[in-house]
Amino acid sequence: MKIGIPKETIPGEFRVATVPDAVKKFCGKGFTVCVEKSAGESAHFTDEAYVQAGAQLVGNDEALGADLVLKVGVPAPGEIDKMKSGGVLCSLLDPCRNENALTGLAGKGVTALAVELIPRTTRAQSMDVLSSQAGIAGYRAIIEAASRYPRFFPMMMTSAGAARPAKLIVLGAGVAGLQAIATARRLGCDVEAFDVRPAVREEIQSLGAKFIDLDVGESGAGEGGYAKELSEEGKKRQQAALTEYLKKANIIVSTALIPCRDAPVLITEDAVKGLAEGSVIIDLAAASGGNCPLSEPDQVVVKHGVSLVGHTNYPSMVPGDASAFYARNLFNLVSILVEEKEGNLAWKDFAEDDISKAATVTRGGEIVYQKP
Ligand SMILES: NC(=O)c1ccc[n+]([C@@H]2O[C@H](COP(=O)([O-])OP(=O)(O)OC[C@H]3O[C@@H](n4cnc5c(N)ncnc54)[C@H](O)[C@@H]3O)[C@@H](O)[C@H]2O)c1
Repeated sequence: MKIGIPKETIPGEFRVATVPDAVKKFCGKGFTVCVEKSAGESAHFTDEAYVQAGAQLVGNDEALGADLVLKVGVPAPGEIDKMKSGGVLCSLLDPCRNENALTGLAGKGVTALAVELIPRTTRAQSMDVLSSQAGIAGYRAIIEAASRYPRFFPMMMTSAGAARPAKLIVLGAGVAGLQAIATARRLGCDVEAFDVRPAVREEIQSLGAKFIDLDVGESGAGEGGYAKELSEEGKKRQQAALTEYLKKANIIVSTALIPCRDAPVLITEDAVKGLAEGSVIIDLAAASGGNCPLSEPDQVVVKHGVSLVGHTNYPSMVPGDASAFYARNLFNLVSILVEEKEGNLAWKDFAEDDISKAATVTRGGEIVYQKP
């Protein structure tokens, strides 16, 4: 069975779906791995390293025409055209927002697995790309904040005077938020955090940060550990309480998301106006509408004296490790998709395993994904 690794084409995407270490593992399982020339270049994996690991270097058509295509970003129509009818694709597909890609994949007869739909269960933990990439995003967001903030993060005592530790507030303490808290603590910030799921209070405290106790009058805990949308009343109460509370922050890192919905507005324009000159807002939800209506996707803007950073692909800013983690997740996923039959690798029935079933979005020429 042939695996194809095409070079990613979305602007700003520097990751690659497989790295040389994973190629060795795939070859050890009996796969033939075909990597498009220079596919790993932007993540600093050379063609030579892939060849040494056992891969064949191929052109774009051959990589996309493989039995199994591993990708990071949603394939463009021209890429889907080159895929094999009856082939399998594993990629981030953001199925809530990309119906056209699903229609194209179904029309081509490709069985597509959207890897962000892998359930957050213990058995699927080693395949959980959302977590591996969100952890990187949380870390990189703090590095970004530190480079934009015009003062120190840690307390500094020098002969030229003393600087206080920066006050950093994290909104949304899922995987990205918790890693942001941990990284900001390591850099010496004074950290506070808020989440609508009360269950995260202890996790926030265990990282040495203060849990912000906001009474929004309702719990935001939804199904499967995810948050649910607050009522209109709840949203207003939360915005009003945060506008007051956020005045003390020097840096705000917001990560609040609700699956398949626009991101909740947590930082109003009044809250931005309440911040001191030189403050920084890192809006990790910028791709989903933003937690702050003033942030702009993929832009850094200054409004009311505050830097608003709207980068939408932080994992791509750490492409080496992000690709290595992603490749490991995908190797573990692919391992449960195949079995050996008479000395050859064959597909299992994806509908019979809860992980592959949950991730399958197109099969047999149809879209089988249902929006939550
Ligand atoms: N294998 C596992 O068991 C496993 C692995 C990873 C994550 N998880 C769980 O999956 C769930 C989702 O994690 P995620 O990081 O993907 O979350 P996410 O990216 O969907 O959302 C980020 C955070 O924003 C919060 N949020 C949403 N609306 C908010 C609002 N109005 N105000 C403040 N915060 C708000 C959410 O509660 C969440 O913590 C969590 O319960 C997490 O613990 C489980």
